Amino acid sequence: MSSSLATVAYIAATILFILSLGGLSNQTTALRGNLYGMVGMTLAVLATVFGPQVTAAGLPWIIGAMAIGAGIGLYAARTVQMTQMPELVALMHSMVGLAAMLVGFATFIDPTATAGFEGAAKTIHELEIYIGVFIGAVTFAGSVIAFGKLSGRISGNPVLLPGRHWLNLAGLLVVIYFGGVFMQAHDVQAGMLPVIVMTIVALLFGVHMVMAIGGADMPVVVSMLNSYSGWAAAATGFMLSNDLLIVVGALVGSSGAILSYIMCNAMNRSFISVIAGGFGTTSTPKPGAGGAAAQPAGEVTPVTALETAELLREAKSVIIVPGYGMAVAQAQHTVFEITKHLRAKGVNVRFGIHPVAGRMPGHMNVLLAEAKVPYDIVFEMDELNDDFPATDVTMVIGANDIVNPSAQDDPTSPIAGMPVLEVWKAKTSIVMKRSMASGYAGVDNPLFYKENNRMLFGDAKKMLDEVLTALRA
Ligand code: TAP
Repeated sequence: MSSSLATVAYIAATILFILSLGGLSNQTTALRGNLYGMVGMTLAVLATVFGPQVTAAGLPWIIGAMAIGAGIGLYAARTVQMTQMPELVALMHSMVGLAAMLVGFATFIDPTATAGFEGAAKTIHELEIYIGVFIGAVTFAGSVIAFGKLSGRISGNPVLLPGRHWLNLAGLLVVIYFGGVFMQAHDVQAGMLPVIVMTIVALLFGVHMVMAIGGADMPVVVSMLNSYSGWAAAATGFMLSNDLLIVVGALVGSSGAILSYIMCNAMNRSFISVIAGGFGTTSTPKPGAGGAAAQPAGEVTPVTALETAELLREAKSVIIVPGYGMAVAQAQHTVFEITKHLRAKGVNVRFGIHPVAGRMPGHMNVLLAEAKVPYDIVFEMDELNDDFPATDVTMVIGANDIVNPSAQDDPTSPIAGMPVLEVWKAKTSIVMKRSMASGYAGVDNPLFYKENNRMLFGDAKKMLDEVLTALRA
């Protein structure tokens, strides 16, 4: 492929990626957005592999590596459970970071990669390598820890080292100092030590940053690492002088940064504190995240599926709040059957979605869309929170942290300040879950003990099937 044809293909791919992001911003256009992205990526890969930068000798290597990568990707995509998606995404972010790191080292070592750079261009190229390796190492290490936390292999509790902010500052100063040494070195032998020291510090910083994050604050870290992976890709683009990689990396980096900002707002956290690593977190260890039993703090009122159906039948307005447990139980289709049944009887049924419900941004929207729940009855938290006092029944399906009143009432809680769906303000709230276990943040939920709250214990899918049968009877 000639270089001008490759450039045209790159421009077309860039436009498709921008259209893709535009499409993904709205549920009704998301499918089209995905298609644009897929066509854009196919074009980008073809233009790169058959473009002028790949030699005939290198082609079999690239095609071989792509076949192995595609095989692993296909296997992962076919076997991964919907609930494992967030950890898979974290793992993929780590790969982008690792790639940036390795490309940085390879570019630095390979004499042909730096040939032709003189004066200011050489300085800029060396700076690109240093920054690229740094971003790559932080992204790689942070994403591996995020993978561990999301998959439950590492405890979700924050690990807060004494003087952690000073440690981060000291690390940054070391990176800057060795950056100066590296820029003076100008050859591989003298430059290798500073770049290795910086890489070790960056890896430690990535680990430290994510280890310090408490359970409920993980969403911000997930979106932030998404952004970092984009900047790592952009840095790789600079090192390889690949314009498309720079543009795509910048698109991912900036959209991820915007998502992190939205997440920070949703969690009522400061963006800067997130980047500094560990925020809003006290050193008080809480019960283990992700389902450890919390200490009972009162009496709960259990109900049966039959009684739940009765409450729903008598209601004029119902708000359904889905959470991670709905994803685990794969209950979304039954939820929609119940919704259709109630709507046919004239009940006003709406869905309330918390921005961090589930384990990845938009998790609940994806599940509800899969079950074909109409978009016009799915609302964001802010759109619905004032409506709970005028609602007869709220059905909380496998959600916990996002409906926890202690976020508002208990300033010492790890989730203090996080906006929540105020389901307890409805006439009756019904919480469906299997036990009294805590949610991801590992904190007890006073909602369960409220006088107007009922607990429907059991697997969400099984219980909802029973509720549906009772409603239809
Ligand atoms: P959680 O607070 O994690 O609560 C989910 C509840 O679902 C659990 O208490 C569990 O209780 C129940 N459950 C699990 N399996 C179930 C099943 N088969 N049937 C019925 N219930 C089941 O979830 P949430 O309310 O959606 O809040 C999300 C949490 O995850 C937040 O703390 C958020 O910060 C964090 N997080 C979010 C993200 C993103 S980006 N969304 C990423 C990482 C972390 P039982 O075990 O008693 O059934």
